[in-house]
Amino acid sequence: MKTKQRAFLKWAGGKYRLTEDIFQQLPQRRCLVEPFVGAGSVFLNSDFERYILADINPDLINLFTIIKADVERYIAHAKALFTHPKANTPDFYYKKRAEFNPSRDPFQRAVLFLYFNRFGFNGLCRYNQKHEFNVPFGRYKQPYFPEKELCFFAEKAQKATFLCGDFEQTFAYLQANPDDYAVYCDPPYAPLVQESNFTHYAGGGFSLQQQEKLALSAKALAKADIPVLISNHDTLFTRQIYRGATIKSFQVQRHIGQTARSRIKVNELFALFS
Ligand SMILES: C[S@@+](CC[C@H](N)C(=O)[O-])C[C@H]1O[C@@H](n2cnc3c(N)ncnc32)[C@H](O)[C@@H]1O
Repeated sequence: MKTKQRAFLKWAGGKYRLTEDIFQQLPQRRCLVEPFVGAGSVFLNSDFERYILADINPDLINLFTIIKADVERYIAHAKALFTHPKANTPDFYYKKRAEFNPSRDPFQRAVLFLYFNRFGFNGLCRYNQKHEFNVPFGRYKQPYFPEKELCFFAEKAQKATFLCGDFEQTFAYLQANPDDYAVYCDPPYAPLVQESNFTHYAGGGFSLQQQEKLALSAKALAKADIPVLISNHDTLFTRQIYRGATIKSFQVQRHIGQTARSRIKVNELFALFS
């Protein structure tokens, strides 16, 4: 069995454990498209000729683009930051956060983004209404520097085109640039009925209307012979918006927090529009 590749970022809703199930559902095509790429666990563990990887988060796509262009330079700068004698102190962290927010320098933002991901609270990525990154310091003993994960990502990224935008922009790009596509969508989860920190966090500003719009756009792409697989919570709402697709449901244990309390069991589903 192939060794699984870990993403170099911690990311809410990462699909590291589900990649085999995803590939079982996804039709074989030449180019994999991920309109909600996140940290890229699916991309990293797949074997397509080429990729289109998109996300609405500009810091994430900027980071991927910079790593693809010159990972050695990136590693040198990021490692220097991680090993700074003060790196793991709140003062240093908040100073760097204050430098990051007004910065328009793509390279500086990319280096700091990884530092926040490993030294910040729970690996969260959160912005306030002014688009300022506002995650507090994390208090970890010894944050890990993901050098080999960065190198693996950079090598594989040579086959990828990165796009920053809403999923509808990615879908429009596919229609304007025909190729042999299979699309895997991993949107922020639709809410569960019960309250939990996880669903509260993972609401991610993605409304029920957007969930519905995504399902409609997937149906339209499938009509144009582009298969689309979507994963989500298995709820009455998702069953309703994905009707007409082939549905597969299964139970997973996911966790986003650091404690056993933050671990919950939910049913997930795959909806394949083809
Ligand atoms: C559940 S995560 C994807 C996780 C990914 N599959 C992984 O394994 O790391 C969802 C992603 O969707 C992105 N996102 C949220 N709203 C979006 C939108 N309207 N269009 C495109 N991406 C969006 C978020 O920035 C986040 O990275």
